[in-house]
Amino acid sequence: MKSFIKITSVLVLMIVLVSCTTDRRSRQVQYMGDTDMYNSVPYDTYSADHPIFKDGMSAQLPVEGTIAIGKVPYDYPNNEAGYQLAKDSLRSPLKFKAPLDSIYRVSKANITQGKALYNIYCATCHGLKGDGQGDLVKNEKFLGVPNFKDRAITEGSIYHVIMYGRNMMGSHASQLNAKERWQVTHYVEQLRNDMLK
Ligand code: HEC
Repeated sequence: MKSFIKITSVLVLMIVLVSCTTDRRSRQVQYMGDTDMYNSVPYDTYSADHPIFKDGMSAQLPVEGTIAIGKVPYDYPNNEAGYQLAKDSLRSPLKFKAPLDSIYRVSKANITQGKALYNIYCATCHGLKGDGQGDLVKNEKFLGVPNFKDRAITEGSIYHVIMYGRNMMGSHASQLNAKERWQVTHYVEQLRNDMLK
């Protein structure tokens, strides 16, 4: 009986000693021989001092000239010269020449999609009709929004302004992908033509 008490108290003491350590986050006793089961072998994401790559970082830049899937490069610079160049020379890839037709057209489906996107992203300032009387303007929250019919804009300049913004208007490049920007562009042209009729 005495030895039973001795053995039990030694066991309890051991458990207490093993459990009461200051660092509760790390394991104190590892039962398995292979410590790789506990300790991760790979390098942490974005850790410096990575031995494989030259610059010691695990996050690598894409190879020069790579284009991400779905991204369309835009080479016109974000300045006044770039704006002018886009205005004069940038043309929409959505226009097609129908058979037996000399005029370039945009499909109804693209215009419909452009309208839906315009009403979400642009109408708050520019108004549903493009007259510059959006809700933000009516409530005097945003000023200086032009009526599209008063501006000599082209498909190239509209696209450029969606890409980079202009003065008080911010860029909408992150909300709309390249195709959507063209769809909105054509809807803006349509609104403008309707007002000029
Ligand atoms: C927060 C308000 C606001 C929103 C939202 C907005 N705009 Fe504008 N937009 C402006 C203002 C202000 C100007 C006048 C900029 C200037 O020329 O000083 C402008 C100007 C323009 C012009 C004329 C630029 C030129 O070349 O003269 C176009 C085209 C245009 N916006 C298209 C859009 C389209 C398309 C959207 C939606 C994708 C949009 N805007 C969203 C405020 C806005």
